[in-house]
Amino acid sequence: MSASPGTTSAEAPVVLEARDLKRHYTVKRGWFGKATVKALDGASFTVRAGRTLAVVGESGCGKSTLARVLTMIEPPTGGELMFDGTDVAHADAATRKARRPTVQMVFQNPYGSLNPRQKVGAILAEPLLINTDLSPAERREKALAMMAKVGLRPELADRYPHMFSGGQRQRIAIARALMLNPRVVVADEPVSALDVSVQAQVLNLLLDLQEEFGLAYVFISHDLSVVRHIADEVMVMYLGKPVEHGPKDLIFSRPRHPYTRALLAAMPRLHRGEAAPPPLKGELPSPLNPPSGCAFHKRCPMAQPRCSAEIPLPRAVDGRLVACHFAEEAA
Ligand SMILES: Nc1ncnc2c1ncn2[C@@H]1O[C@H](COP(=O)(O)OP(=O)(O)OP(=O)(O)O)[C@@H](O)[C@H]1O
Ligand code: SF4
Ligand SMILES: [Mg+2]
Repeated sequence: MSASPGTTSAEAPVVLEARDLKRHYTVKRGWFGKATVKALDGASFTVRAGRTLAVVGESGCGKSTLARVLTMIEPPTGGELMFDGTDVAHADAATRKARRPTVQMVFQNPYGSLNPRQKVGAILAEPLLINTDLSPAERREKALAMMAKVGLRPELADRYPHMFSGGQRQRIAIARALMLNPRVVVADEPVSALDVSVQAQVLNLLLDLQEEFGLAYVFISHDLSVVRHIADEVMVMYLGKPVEHGPKDLIFSRPRHPYTRALLAAMPRLHRGEAAPPPLKGELPSPLNPPSGCAFHKRCPMAQPRCSAEIPLPRAVDGRLVACHFAEEAA
């Protein structure tokens, strides 16, 4: 897919651009055989400063793989990954290292992602210790200031992560992600492990921080009500590929891809008064052996013979990008 749909040049600068980004894994099959898992298989999009791209799709569609590639935890096996116009996928190690602080990750599990043996103040100061030559006192001061920004009392800096609630721990993880002034934050299911009452508080914190620092978010979630709250744009993925991508309101109110329609069918409140789209049948196919043509064709209520023969390429239809041969008919 090309650059984000529904945007104009007058908007905030593009900080992150993915071009045909791929991450394939070679896995063993049987005793001597090998196979390729196309976990991420050609994602193209842009994210602007101060904006949120939400990435949605069923378990196993490649969301976390995309997150690891975007945050440079793993290199892509194809395509380009640009931060402020610099392609880090093909850059030398020094350029990649210099760009790494630009993008930070917030993980789903605030229990597992924080070192239980480190005090919160030290957890927050650590990125500064590694990446800056600030003095210990300066690092401590910045750590305490960031605690206040994420709604934690700085006097709790000498406590250990287990002494905080789940929501507070996720605040610590968010604070740690912001210590190096990133421009992009990739959040992989950041509120899924939290109680519903706490989810809204953490989402609102993310929105406040986005406004204050002009952060670009890539927000991964399987929960469409959360996505609806936080996203500007939505990208729906199926078996490693984006299948529909556009402004949130369009995707929620007039989904064009049958898969998007099926996902939204799980949100009946949105379709009050409308005929509900048919529910999704069957399971996500194995990425080791994806169906021919459109990977969705075995589950698609609109499938026709062409669908199993020809891969649908993303194209602009009705203000969004959609990869379906019959997108015009799916209104
Ligand atoms: N290191 C790896 N080696 C082989 N296959 C992998 C590897 N990492 C991920 N995969 C496969 O890639 C596909 C996408 O996985 P990924 O974890 O990105 O999905 P996801 O959308 O994040 O799922 P979930 O919603 O469950 O978190 C899956 O089929 C997974 O088994
Ligand atoms: S291309 Fe065919 S199978 Fe794929 S989503 Fe469109 S109608 Fe369904
Ligand atoms: Mg995941």
